Amino acid sequence: MDRNGSFPANSAEISSEPDALAGVTVIVCSSCRDETGSDAHPRAGALLAEDTRRAASSENIRIRTVECLGNCKRRLSAALLRDGCWSYVFGDLAATSGADLVAGAKLFATSTDGLIPWRDRPDSLKRGLVARIPPLDMLKD
Ligand code: FES
Repeated sequence: MDRNGSFPANSAEISSEPDALAGVTVIVCSSCRDETGSDAHPRAGALLAEDTRRAASSENIRIRTVECLGNCKRRLSAALLRDGCWSYVFGDLAATSGADLVAGAKLFATSTDGLIPWRDRPDSLKRGLVARIPPLDMLKD
């Protein structure tokens, strides 16, 4: 962190090579319920995970599931991670938001400053942003 309290980009360490998609992981909460709060299975979160895997089927993006991201009040939730970059948590997604998550992952993969570019993000990843967390390396000074 610099004297102004901001985190300078460290573009020298963040690659945007063509296979950078391999460095991005999408984590989908498979336990999230839909807006009805139904306990029925498959849960809406599991449907979102399936939709994301389908959207990423021709891409080299890791899709993983967890049972809770601690964001249950914002319903369908997912996170985007990339080594050395900020980590993002999103909520208020739909079971059909898989393509948006993959689009976000692609944007993330091409980022040279460790952030997902705001302007080209799908609306669901703008409205649904819950938090972004810096990588530990940015906090070492
Ligand atoms: S059940 Fe999905 S975030 Fe908690």
